[in-house]
Amino acid sequence: MQLPQPVPRQTPRHVAIIMDGNGRWAQANGLSRLEGHAEGARAVREAVRTCRKEGVEFLTLYAFSVANWGRPRAEVRALMSLLLDFAEREKQELRDQDVRLQVIGDAEELPLGTRDAVQSAIEYTADCTGMTLSLALSYGGRADIVNAARALALQVSTGQLLPEEVTEAAFQKALSTHPLPAVDLLIRTGGERRVSDFLLFESAYAELYFLPIMWPDFNAKALRDAFGFFASRERRFGLTGEQVQAAAAPLDAARNGNPSLSGSALDGVRSTSTVVPLRTGHGFDPHDASNSSLHGESANAE
Ligand code: FPP
Repeated sequence: MQLPQPVPRQTPRHVAIIMDGNGRWAQANGLSRLEGHAEGARAVREAVRTCRKEGVEFLTLYAFSVANWGRPRAEVRALMSLLLDFAEREKQELRDQDVRLQVIGDAEELPLGTRDAVQSAIEYTADCTGMTLSLALSYGGRADIVNAARALALQVSTGQLLPEEVTEAAFQKALSTHPLPAVDLLIRTGGERRVSDFLLFESAYAELYFLPIMWPDFNAKALRDAFGFFASRERRFGLTGEQVQAAAAPLDAARNGNPSLSGSALDGVRSTSTVVPLRTGHGFDPHDASNSSLHGESANAE
């Protein structure tokens, strides 16, 4: 298995955002909810640009949940039309920034025009490798888990898969988020402190960052503050602080100029903020960071 490089990591690799507060922002500014969403789309542009600049590899945005289909029809229509505009207008910019677009969720549910525009932007950016922008559209974390369970149950019932082959890795492969790595930082604007059915499986060890500002006010500074919060966290993945610090020691030594500790001994060890233990059986191998993704095999997933 190819090990990831020892990248000092103050920046989260996978950022997921629940973009909440467009409606309240609009109300506070004497505007309609639809104008609030339009302003929200502008904030999306800035978030994408800043993440790219800061070296984020995967950005996943909760743009439309399964539950959002229950909103007033005019609002659903407006959101679909904003998505269509976004896909049409931003695809060149995404390509210029080397950002690949993809969708998680059930894109089949979208109106044809929106689906076509999104599909066209996906194809237009397919060979970009700088960052992957995933739009969660008609997405629900529970629905995704249930669909994965159903797909695996079907394989077991037809003898393609043994029950004992239903592992975390097999389960993750059956999710619509495959092959995204695990979420490192989950941000929610709008003042609420909940995850609202977003990336339930994928955020198992994510750092959670809730902020009171409404989504249209989210900007580069707010994002950098979130990264500052992330960098200050010690991620333990169920281990003790001592174990995590012991795993980080070789990297710190190399940073301090000890050449004998550079190279393969450091492979996979990230920064103190994101030291990631590998589970080899139930053991702990500090030299492998594959646990920073959902599974080792997707550690280098694009
Ligand atoms: C939540 O705010 C936001 C949404 C349901 C949709 C998010 C959509 C955008 C940010 C704009 C379009 C997206 C793209 C990718 C172009 P809310 O309406 O629930 O706000 P409220 O809680 O204040 O009512």
